[in-house]
Amino acid sequence: MKEFLSSLQAKGSLYPVKEKISPNLEVSSVLSSFQDRAMLFENVEGSSLRLAGNLYGARKNLELGLGFAPETLVRRVEEAVRNPSNGKGHLSDFRKTDWDYVGEADLSKLPILKHFANEAGYYLTAGIVAARFPGSEFENLSFHRMLVLSKNKVAARLVPRHLNQMGKEASQKKFPVSIIIGPPPRVFLAASLQLEYGLSEYMVANKLGTSPLELVLSEISDIAVPADSEIVLEGFINFEELADEGPFVDLTGTYDEVRKQPVITLQRMRYRADSVYQAVVASTMEHSTFMGLPQELKIRDALAKSVPGFRGINLTASSGGYFHCIVSIDKGNDGDGKTAIMNCFAASHPLKLVIAVDGDVDPYDLKEVEWALATRFQADSGLVLLKGARGSSLDPSSGKSAVTSKLGLDATLPVKKDRGAFEKATIKISPTVEQVLKGFKSN
Ligand SMILES: Cc1cc2nc3c(=O)[nH]c(=O)nc-3n(C[C@H](O)[C@H](O)[C@H](O)COP(=O)(O)O)c2cc1C
Repeated sequence: MKEFLSSLQAKGSLYPVKEKISPNLEVSSVLSSFQDRAMLFENVEGSSLRLAGNLYGARKNLELGLGFAPETLVRRVEEAVRNPSNGKGHLSDFRKTDWDYVGEADLSKLPILKHFANEAGYYLTAGIVAARFPGSEFENLSFHRMLVLSKNKVAARLVPRHLNQMGKEASQKKFPVSIIIGPPPRVFLAASLQLEYGLSEYMVANKLGTSPLELVLSEISDIAVPADSEIVLEGFINFEELADEGPFVDLTGTYDEVRKQPVITLQRMRYRADSVYQAVVASTMEHSTFMGLPQELKIRDALAKSVPGFRGINLTASSGGYFHCIVSIDKGNDGDGKTAIMNCFAASHPLKLVIAVDGDVDPYDLKEVEWALATRFQADSGLVLLKGARGSSLDPSSGKSAVTSKLGLDATLPVKKDRGAFEKATIKISPTVEQVLKGFKSN
């Protein structure tokens, strides 16, 4: 992550916080107040390590970190997912790399935060868990919030995805994991993606860069971790040792409930004297970016296959980039609006609301979207209502079972409809008007 921090610094986009500040609610309060500002806290009470937050709060920071031109993120990631590299990167022995501290795991040395007052305690929020797929030489990477239970134990929240699946498949219910904090941006991004089971996120990360990913082996297992990680923790996850995890404020900004979750016991830890601990405050723009992107890829893929006139989607920021989607299409068939809605729901189970609009409506302009609803939508013909479908455990209204109803609003016009009555009237700008407007703009 060092190189990324340096490039942010060089652009004046890393805001230093020099005041002595408490990890108990104060850091999270500052970070959530300016969510698009990457910050470096230089003096967090109780730790000698610095802390970085909101690093990817602005999408341009993520593109800078990845070396992508602005506005190319989705296309570049789509390419890498479709065509990942064969190998995971260049692997060396960790002893050959320069760590200042290699020793027993001790979480009290890290500036771990408590983010919200009624949370269960201090949480690692940007930790990526690396574990070998059973019987494979490749690692799965996934983010898990981890509640600190003691200086070497955490309870990790596992939704039913790959790590959870690995726990079911593994012959031993206890297996090694490494926790990566502060990896290079391409690994951070890849770890958030929802790839097919068995495909390592390292293969996508490798493809996202111009040089092979530098990896090092863990000290006590054969798990590879990025050489340019700020902090690495190593130990094992035990699916038979469970602890209370939560409450924790998640994507929606509401408290997620208490559940019994697997415990990770940490044995070893390594970092450098200038290592920077990374935190993500839940429900911020940064969190929505990484929760929304994997859904965006799945929805775009489904729409590209099912609706020939598909133009674009907006997973709205206020829904955490996760629950509400606006899809814009050029209709070729009167069924395209509903087909688009159904395919969005099928591609991304957390979605609760999909609004389909015509290609002349910008899905990112919510005022225009509402205008399309006001002028092109009729509830008796354009409404889709599904009951009892799979939802997300992050939605407090869907209850413990994460079963939800889904609403589709088709605000597209019939193909053969005379569009004259539905197009926004414009006024031609005369040279005089242009001059008057210019005057307004310059004042
Ligand atoms: C900041 C952040 C925090 C996350 N927290 C969790 C979590 O606590 N538990 C979880 O199961 N998934 C969490 N996720 C989602 C998973 O990391 C994500 O779905 C990932 O792709 C799963 O990896 P997998 O496809 O290899 O299972 C989080 C994602 C991000 C970006």
